[in-house]
Amino acid sequence: MAVLRSRSWLLCFLVAHVTEAATGSRQRVKLTGHRDRVWEVPVRSGRTSSPQVSAGPEPGDPAAAFTVPTLDGEFSFQPGSPRGSVVIHAFTNKSGFLEGLWSSEASLSSLVRDLPNRTQVVFLSLDDSAVSDALWMRDQLTRAAMHSKKEVLSRLHFSPVPVFALGNWIPSVLYYWSCLGRNCGLSQAAFTSEGWKLPVIVKRLDARYDWLMARWGQRSYQLVDGGSGCDPSPSVAGGVAWVSEGNCSFFTKVQAMAKSNASGVLVYALPGNPIQDMNCIEDECNSPLGVPAAMVHLEPVVAQALRFGQKVNVSFQNTPSPNFFIGIDPQGALAEMGWFLYPTFSFVNWQAQWFDFYADLQTKLQSPAKVVPVFDKVQMQGEKGAVATVDLPSGLLDVDTLELDASLSCPGRRDSSCAQWDHTVQLFVCCDHMSPYCNVELGRWITAFRRGIGRWVTDVTPLLPLLDSSKCTFTMKTVPWAMPWIVSLNLRFSGSNQTGNQVEKLRPFRVMSLYSGGTFDKNYNKRYQPIKFPVPASTKKVELFAVITGHGSDENGCGEFCVTSHHFLVNSAFNNSRVFDSAGTALGCTTRVKEGAVPNEHGTWLYGRGGWCDGLQVDPWRTDITTQLDLSGSESNVVVYFGLFEGRDPNPSQEPGYIIMSSFLVFYK
Ligand SMILES: *[C@@H]1O[C@H](CO)[C@@H](O)[C@H](O)[C@H]1NC(C)=O
Ligand SMILES: *[C@@H]1O[C@H](CO)[C@@H](O)[C@H](O)[C@H]1NC(C)=O
Ligand SMILES: *[C@@H]1O[C@H](CO)[C@@H](O)[C@H](O)[C@H]1NC(C)=O
Ligand SMILES: *[C@@H]1O[C@H](CO)[C@@H](O)[C@H](O)[C@H]1NC(C)=O
Ligand SMILES: *[C@@H]1O[C@H](CO)[C@@H](O)[C@H](O)[C@H]1NC(C)=O
Ligand SMILES: *[C@@H]1O[C@H](CO)[C@@H](O)[C@H](O)[C@H]1NC(C)=O
Ligand SMILES: *[C@@H]1O[C@H](CO)[C@@H](O)[C@H](O)[C@H]1NC(C)=O
Repeated sequence: MAVLRSRSWLLCFLVAHVTEAATGSRQRVKLTGHRDRVWEVPVRSGRTSSPQVSAGPEPGDPAAAFTVPTLDGEFSFQPGSPRGSVVIHAFTNKSGFLEGLWSSEASLSSLVRDLPNRTQVVFLSLDDSAVSDALWMRDQLTRAAMHSKKEVLSRLHFSPVPVFALGNWIPSVLYYWSCLGRNCGLSQAAFTSEGWKLPVIVKRLDARYDWLMARWGQRSYQLVDGGSGCDPSPSVAGGVAWVSEGNCSFFTKVQAMAKSNASGVLVYALPGNPIQDMNCIEDECNSPLGVPAAMVHLEPVVAQALRFGQKVNVSFQNTPSPNFFIGIDPQGALAEMGWFLYPTFSFVNWQAQWFDFYADLQTKLQSPAKVVPVFDKVQMQGEKGAVATVDLPSGLLDVDTLELDASLSCPGRRDSSCAQWDHTVQLFVCCDHMSPYCNVELGRWITAFRRGIGRWVTDVTPLLPLLDSSKCTFTMKTVPWAMPWIVSLNLRFSGSNQTGNQVEKLRPFRVMSLYSGGTFDKNYNKRYQPIKFPVPASTKKVELFAVITGHGSDENGCGEFCVTSHHFLVNSAFNNSRVFDSAGTALGCTTRVKEGAVPNEHGTWLYGRGGWCDGLQVDPWRTDITTQLDLSGSESNVVVYFGLFEGRDPNPSQEPGYIIMSSFLVFYK
């Protein structure tokens, strides 16, 4: 069969070849193949090579063995041998982003300080200068490791052989996985002036994405000398201001030039200085600036032309390049490294942390459990979402743990096929259409913006009583306008004896629904009335179970980026509180990568949020409230919920945010 298929492939190829040849047009043929990609295959007369030659391995495919010569011997990778992850990084000094990555002390020290201890990194150069690049990279990192642990240096490998001369599969994968996204490819500024035969093209590094949102247009701008750029200057109006590094902060320059009506700002590094990541500091970050800005090197021809009053134009372009990174996970599979939002090796550390998380998860999934498949790579999209009716095994009586093993992948194998945005995903279950508990929420996740690697195991044991039936229908949905995700979901039922702990665990036998969320405005807390409840006979433990997330954006960033707190006041005395205190912090969600938050997504996945992170399950909040209750069975217990913004009732003056909440009392015996 395989032979036949490849012959028909070859036939298509030949037909395309002949047609193209007959019309006498271009020397390249477009072949629409596999999935949604279009391959450009070079056509050479007299050759009948298969088009599959151009297709390299995809993320998820096993990495083949390779050896790379290094400054002190060689680095060798063998599939199947026990190991951690490997990160392959190809440097070129034609990229302003890579120059910044390798020059910033913060970036270098993050690598030597925080690289997970099971990860090896292989450093390569794409250029003829590979020998000096390798020596320079080793010097940079050795210097950075001077004041921290040196052990890491034994896991960093520097190759003096340029990528094109490696003679293994690495070059073809770097080129096949080429990239054009943020900080990938070669971002450049192109200067033209009358009297120059050719444009002068230099590398550039755009200002931090989450500081300056404005983008360069597809047009030519006039370049205007703006001095140091620290003071407004009417002469730059309408042009791109050419300003020197130093004398004031990047923020001050961009703000002064924006006030002078410049269309953009190019800051050139002082001679001998590297290109840096232009960012704001502290309060500066609260002032929005509406112009794009980038950093470049001082280009003498440009500076001279401006000095002599010649007109200089500048435009902005991105020249495609091979990828700068390939990952190999601890299972030996090739992996993409995701989006580097700004030039720091922290993004390597985060991806490597995730590799370790995922390897540990694989081990955890080997532990004994009764696994009930619900979705196996099913597309979730639109109003309907993904729906499945499943027979549950009988005899779950000795089960005392229920976990959701969920994953979200993409229609194609590359992250570029993944859906945009961080949307809420909810799983609803209905086991009895007559029950008030039909279609309650069993689990919640947030999608990973443009990354298809998320897999999470969430303990939802308290909701076991909802599955007290032989047949249940599960519905998993996100917003109907989202691009499709491919979902997989297994229910994992397990018993207490696997914990190794002899104490018999209690089992939840009943749940009672409490409150849901709503619009987070000044009336938010007026909606919640106290609920009276008895504790059923033979109850040994009562737990509060709540899944709470904040969304939307009022003038305080509520509920996504503001600190909200959620309180369940029991019997007027016990204030059970949950505070989302990392909401709005710059790196709040990076600390959750070790727990499975998908790193290196598009957008601002790094910021802390109101009870959630991009690309992560929402952890249920569980609190034992047994001692707060009267267990005698009378209707004497009372609970009430309220939600606050910085300790007060919310009172937004613009478009309020909202809280999504499901909450229960859970009774165990
Ligand atoms: C990278 O390029 C810049 C100028 O473009 C130069 O100053 C610097 O020395 C180069 N670094 C390396 C390692 O070649
Ligand atoms: C590696 O790191 C883990 C935690 O991240 C730690 O438990 C372990 O001891 C470390 N191993 C070594 C050899 O340093
Ligand atoms: C500069 O751009 C303007 C339009 O923006 C154009 O008219 C002019 O010819 C350009 N000059 C050069 C030297 O490219
Ligand atoms: C700006 O900084 C440069 C070098 O740091 C210095 O030589 C120059 O005097 C400064 N200019 C002003 C106006 O402060
Ligand atoms: C910038 O443009 C605005 C509106 O066109 C104008 O009012 C203002 O005077 C200009 N500022 C400068 C410094 O040119
Ligand atoms: C432990 O659990 C397994 C199934 O998970 C079961 O087969 C076994 O009988 C249990 N052992 C005890 C001592 O309960
Ligand atoms: C509960 O605690 C929060 C702070 O954690 C406080 O703002 C609130 O007033 C308390 N409520 C009651 C009723 O004690």
